[in-house]
Amino acid sequence: MAPLSLTTERLLIRDWSVDDAEAAFRIYGNPEVAMWLAPMMQRVTDPNAMRSVLEAWVESAPNLAPPTGRWAMVRRSDNVLVGGLALRLLPPYEEDIEIRWQVSQHEWGKGYATEGARALLGWAFTQDVDEIFAVARSSNARAVATARKLGMEWVGETTKYYGLLLQVFRVRRADFAGPVPPNGGE
Ligand SMILES: CC(C)(COP(=O)(O)OP(=O)(O)OC[C@H]1O[C@@H](n2cnc3c(N)ncnc32)[C@H](O)[C@@H]1OP(=O)(O)O)[C@@H](O)C(=O)NCCC(=O)NCCS
Repeated sequence: MAPLSLTTERLLIRDWSVDDAEAAFRIYGNPEVAMWLAPMMQRVTDPNAMRSVLEAWVESAPNLAPPTGRWAMVRRSDNVLVGGLALRLLPPYEEDIEIRWQVSQHEWGKGYATEGARALLGWAFTQDVDEIFAVARSSNARAVATARKLGMEWVGETTKYYGLLLQVFRVRRADFAGPVPPNGGE
């Protein structure tokens, strides 16, 4: 899909660059973050491996069908990478889309995941999608709280994704209360 650039009050959501490797490694190399991302994504073990991961993300980006993709969240005031967001197909990889969020541990609790995800959902609902899911382990209180703060509705728990017992949240286009970009839907 075409490159994306969304701004919120504090954040810029943009495509990844391989030049993000060092900063991204501080997120995806941190065991406290990575423990919640497995088994979908394993902890990245060094900055070179992070570079390879980003190369793969950058290379695959143009081939992903909107609204799926992976993006960086950068704080506008100092240009620091604070996290990542993704919209990905859920298994069996046919239709249902999940939103994923990752924030640098030093930046947890500042509302970045919620602010960035709200903007991304607003954009996603200008595309050809009517509902978006989020899945999280019950023990991942921050992720569960993020889904709830976004106004996502708990729809149940399941073991059908990734071999884990996961709480499933959903937001529908009609119920979404976040911002829609000015040119959205055109
Ligand atoms: C989940 C994650 C993305 C949240 O990012 P964040 O920027 O800290 O999220 P926000 O600040 O927008 O919201 C976090 C909410 O979690 C809740 N929270 C924070 N600390 C908490 C704690 N110790 N226990 C329970 N809830 C907590 C709060 O409700 C907070 O909202 P508030 O602003 O009303 O206080 C981040 O913690 C992270 O990267 N975790 C590791 C990766 C991960 O788990 N990804 C999701 C996989 S399903």
